Amino acid sequence: MNYHPFLILLLLVFVTNLDVGFTKTHHSNTTCSENDQKALIEFKNGLIDNSNRLSSWTGQNCCKWDGVFCDEKTGNVVKIDLHYKNYLLDGEYPQRVFDNHAKNFLGGELSPSLVKLKHLSYLDLSYNYFSSIQIPPFFGLLMNLRFLNLSCAGFGGYIPKNLGNLSRLEHLYLGGCYGYVIGPGNDFRVDSLSWISKFSSLKFFDLSQLVIEDTKDLWNSINMLPSLLSLNLEGCYLNILPSFTQVNFTSLSSLNIHHNAIGMSFENSSIIPPWFSNLTRLMNLDLGQNNFDDPTNVLEKLSSLRVLDVSNNGFGDSLLSSLSKLNNLVYLDLLGNDIHFSSLHLLGNLTSLSVLKLRYNVLKGLIPEGLTSIFCRLSVLDLSDNEISGLLPTFIRDPSSCLENRLKELYMGNTKFSDFFPEGMSMHKNLEVIDSTNSLLYGEIPSSISKLSNLRFLRISNNKLNGSIPSSIGQLSNLEELDISENLFTGIVSELHFAKLSKLMKLHLSKNKNLVLNVSSNWYPTFQVKEIGMTSVNVGPNFPQWLQKQSILDTLIMSDANITDMIPNWLSNITLFMTTLDLSVNKLVGGISVLCDAQFLKLIDLSKNLNLEELRSLNLADNSLEGEIPSSLGDLTIRFLHLQKNNLQGKIPLSFQNLTWLERLDLGENKLKDVFPTWIGEKLQSLELLRLNSNQFYGVIPLELCQISSLCWLNLAGNNLYGTIPSCFGNFSCGTFRGPGEVFGQRVESFMKGIPLEYVGEQILLLRILDLSENKLVGGIPKELTKLVYLQYLNLSRNSLNGSIPKKIGDLKQLESLDLSHNKLSGSIPQSLASLNYLSYMNLSYNNFSGPIPTGNQLQSLDDQSFYVGNPRLCGILIKKSCNGNGTSHVNEQTPQGDDHDQDVDEHKWFYAGIAPGFCVGFLGVLFILYKTRNRGVVHVFQCMARRL
Ligand SMILES: *[C@@H]1O[C@H](CO)[C@@H](O)[C@H](O)[C@H]1NC(C)=O
Ligand SMILES: *[C@@H]1O[C@H](CO)[C@@H](O)[C@H](O)[C@H]1NC(C)=O
Ligand SMILES: *[C@@H]1O[C@H](CO)[C@@H](O)[C@H](O)[C@H]1NC(C)=O
Ligand SMILES: *[C@@H]1O[C@H](CO)[C@@H](O)[C@H](O)[C@H]1NC(C)=O
Ligand SMILES: *[C@@H]1O[C@H](CO)[C@@H](O)[C@H](O)[C@H]1NC(C)=O
Repeated sequence: MNYHPFLILLLLVFVTNLDVGFTKTHHSNTTCSENDQKALIEFKNGLIDNSNRLSSWTGQNCCKWDGVFCDEKTGNVVKIDLHYKNYLLDGEYPQRVFDNHAKNFLGGELSPSLVKLKHLSYLDLSYNYFSSIQIPPFFGLLMNLRFLNLSCAGFGGYIPKNLGNLSRLEHLYLGGCYGYVIGPGNDFRVDSLSWISKFSSLKFFDLSQLVIEDTKDLWNSINMLPSLLSLNLEGCYLNILPSFTQVNFTSLSSLNIHHNAIGMSFENSSIIPPWFSNLTRLMNLDLGQNNFDDPTNVLEKLSSLRVLDVSNNGFGDSLLSSLSKLNNLVYLDLLGNDIHFSSLHLLGNLTSLSVLKLRYNVLKGLIPEGLTSIFCRLSVLDLSDNEISGLLPTFIRDPSSCLENRLKELYMGNTKFSDFFPEGMSMHKNLEVIDSTNSLLYGEIPSSISKLSNLRFLRISNNKLNGSIPSSIGQLSNLEELDISENLFTGIVSELHFAKLSKLMKLHLSKNKNLVLNVSSNWYPTFQVKEIGMTSVNVGPNFPQWLQKQSILDTLIMSDANITDMIPNWLSNITLFMTTLDLSVNKLVGGISVLCDAQFLKLIDLSKNLNLEELRSLNLADNSLEGEIPSSLGDLTIRFLHLQKNNLQGKIPLSFQNLTWLERLDLGENKLKDVFPTWIGEKLQSLELLRLNSNQFYGVIPLELCQISSLCWLNLAGNNLYGTIPSCFGNFSCGTFRGPGEVFGQRVESFMKGIPLEYVGEQILLLRILDLSENKLVGGIPKELTKLVYLQYLNLSRNSLNGSIPKKIGDLKQLESLDLSHNKLSGSIPQSLASLNYLSYMNLSYNNFSGPIPTGNQLQSLDDQSFYVGNPRLCGILIKKSCNGNGTSHVNEQTPQGDDHDQDVDEHKWFYAGIAPGFCVGFLGVLFILYKTRNRGVVHVFQCMARRL
């Protein structure tokens, strides 16, 4: 796989330096002293060990206990290794699965009895979870320690300064958890680090993800460590590097300052300080995710470099000339550096280069053939997220064009390669990863694919591949992930397709509309998968029986799978670890209470008793579930609950007040009938999405709802709500959330004709929606709503709102859809609407608006007359009605409410000036249009005209 460089570094480091001076003595005959044995028992008694990892810690001879190591000769306990590496090397970063495996962590209290182990020189408690306790000060008394690892162990607070007494330390790891972590790592802070300057023997030092309050002090102390070989400061919020007059840690072989904020807090990027070029022994350097500038004079001097990560610095093409002489480079991550194809030849002399990552650069068009010799050397090539187009390059289509066939991992997702899935791909005999997600591959998968006997990951979702899937795919006995979703595959997937896939962990077939999964009812696969996606695949009519023996399933997404069946009793057995269950849009029949009380009871009980197993998302939307919502659902520690589009009746159970983790609650389109519950706002304060639309909720909208500050999507449309729109709705602060897509400035094409698309997966995070339409709301549109500057969709139609449109409506710069139709709104239409660049739908029909329709780029394109009908006093080119007359009396005659009035008049003065002469000519035309619209309006305008004449 595609390991983070620091993991490679770790490997290098540990392979060469594991020797810390003693050997494992489990099978020798040494016996430990009573003193040591007692101290360890005391230590054990302080710990919480839910999974009995220390069950061997009984009896006299502690040298035989798991994780305890004694000196061969003396029998003294010298090493305790209780680390728990439960993380999975899954994808680019190891992920720590906190939810399901938390029970295997050690926790509790650390007994000072450890001090009695006079000869302890090695202590590893990493990757456990100690509930944010501080490192106990007695650690400063473990004077013989040479190795201390407390990484990712859930410690918190300030690091005690007396750790500085451990002057013999060679290894000190205090870092967080690498990469993306589900669940807490360490939560350390350090104020002064001057105490580390005493570590004259320190070779390996990891402070990653620590909050370091005084970074000047940090660097001065580090400069006192002449033995340092490896320094990890990843993710420490550093924003500046010091300038040394003399750098002492020139032995350094590995430096990681990935993901800090260097060069980001000032207007200009930061140069790499000149002292870097004195670190001539550096083999691993990670400068990624900072804002460095001009690497030229520094990087080219670091000729020992083997692993270099300069990702996301935006260096530009000049970077490559400074890399062109680094002949020892093996691993090069250039992600996000504005690099063009035209400069890649500068890597031509790097004959050791094996891993080249070019994601998110500006590679455009065809791959130049001249680069073949570079690419042929690689075992890992990442071209994803570039605008590369045309046919796949020769070295991929025809491996014999390379002298040697080394390719192991090929990433080309989010590109515009448009080609057949090449037959020659099957000749890359070492290939382990093919990732061509979101590209333009078409045609069929060749059945020769079975020759890729090393293939572990086949990710080809969202291409234009078609035909049937060759059953030879079932011969890929090393396959761990098969993702062919979102293509045009047809035909049948049968048992044959899975014949030898015993290592499969992820199976995604979703969104191949004409694909049929047809396996016999007594077939059980040899694999145990974690994820299954079979949305919009023809799986039914029966609930797939083979799922029954899947015991580690984490995610089951089987929406719209043409299943017409009862939910099977055994579902609760396979959902024990499940974080996501989506069975929406099927024809699952019966009452939901049967489903919850019977099938999920076990799950509910478990989640209560162990407080571990956690169903994160339950989606049963769009089935035919009926009856009342069972109150037992309120016992789940759930984050997403989707029950929309069923036939549920009655009230929302009061037990839902316990769902304090809930982020999405969708009960829309049911038959629920209740006074609008005030407790939703008081208790469910994590909600991002609340949809209660198309039910029969009644009463006023409670002010308590505004306590849910994170709300992004509120839909209460189609109920019987009355009263006014609370002005505190302007306080919803969803905009502070940054969805994943926004990092790259994308917009979701989210609306069609004013109707928000259904949300899919995480996409919802990008949408900001307020829909209160089809109720009985009165009063004005609160001007506070214009504070919702991230709002994309606003629908207040079909109420009885009056007053005018808030003049600052133009502040809603992200607005894509605005519907105020069928109210009693009046006044003029603010000119500021014309500045809303994203507005693609606007309906103001059937109100009482008057005056000219503002002009502007965006409004010009919304030229559908029907958006304005039913407003007889409107005029403008768009509705082919000229705005004749001097207009003043016209405007004064209206009585818009609220403080928006003055501004609106001002806004429109320009429009009326000097058009009086054309009045009579235009009048007939106006009459005609009005006649065709509404009688009421005609009368109104007649009155107005009469007064003016
Ligand atoms: C341990 O003792 C047994 C006999 O008591 C002996 O056979 C064995 O060789 C010893 N092992 C070591 C490593 O000394
Ligand atoms: C390290 O360098 C500094 C100057 O930056 C010097 O004052 C100090 O004595 C040096 N320390 C060691 C341990 O060599
Ligand atoms: C870097 O090394 C050069 C000579 O090799 C020396 O003159 C210079 O002072 C060193 N710079 C630092 C900051 O130590
Ligand atoms: C590669 O090495 C050759 C021979 O040393 C040299 O002539 C050429 O300029 C080098 N190319 C690059 C891009 O540095
Ligand atoms: C759903 O399954 C039935 C058989 O149970 C089949 O006749 C029908 O065509 C399927 N519907 C779709 C949309 O595939």
